[in-house]
Amino acid sequence: MELNEVMQKRRSVRKYLDAQISQEEIKEIIHAAQLAPSWKNSQNGRYYVALSEEAIRTVYDALPDFNQRSTVNAAYIIAAFKEKTSGAIRDGEMSEEGDLWGGYDLGLQNAYLLLKASEMGYDTLIMGLRDTKALREYFSIPEDEIIMPVIAIGKRDGDVNLRPRKDLSEILKIR
Ligand SMILES: Cc1cc2nc3c(=O)[nH]c(=O)nc-3n(C[C@H](O)[C@H](O)[C@H](O)COP(=O)(O)O)c2cc1C
Repeated sequence: MELNEVMQKRRSVRKYLDAQISQEEIKEIIHAAQLAPSWKNSQNGRYYVALSEEAIRTVYDALPDFNQRSTVNAAYIIAAFKEKTSGAIRDGEMSEEGDLWGGYDLGLQNAYLLLKASEMGYDTLIMGLRDTKALREYFSIPEDEIIMPVIAIGKRDGDVNLRPRKDLSEILKIR
C-alpha cells in the first residue's frame, strides 16, 4: 500500500470487531516502530502489550469509562520511555527541554507504529487518559520509565470519517 494511502486510511477508531491481533503481528508492528529516528539512537521507547484476556481486562479497568466504551474487543499497547535518556548531553546533563525529547522520540516511534498497523489492516486509538499506577503494577514497569499513551488496536467496525484539519495557513509559515 502506498504511504499516502496508509496515512489517509489511519484514523482514531472507537468501535472494534471481535478479531484479535496475533503476537507475531504485534512484533511486526513494534519492529516498524523501531525504525524511527531517536536522540543519539538511544531507542528509549518501551512497549507493554495486553493480548491475554486477563491483561486486556486489567488495561480496560485502568481506562476512564468513555475510553472503555470506545475499545471493547481491542487489544492494548502501552507506550513508555526511559527517562533522562533522550535529551541527555553528557555526564547526566540534559538539554534545556529535558525529557520532552523522550516524549518526542516516543511520538515518532508511535507514528510509525500506527502507520504500520494501518498498512496491516489494523486500526488504533491513542488514549492519553489512563491509570498509570495500575498499569505500572500489572506489567512491572520500572519507575524510571514514563508511561505515555495506551493505544487500542483492533479492526474497525464500520466507517469512520477523517476529522477536519486546520487550514495550512494556520500552522505553516514560510519565509
Ligand atoms: C496524545 C493523544 C491523546 C489522545 N487521547 C485520547 C483519548 O483519551 N480518548 C480518545 O477517544 N481519543 C484520544 N485521542 C485521539 C484524538 O482525539 C484524535 O487523534 C484526533 O481527534 C484526530 O482524529 P484522528 O486520529 O481520527 O485523525 C488522543 C490522541 C493523542 C495524539
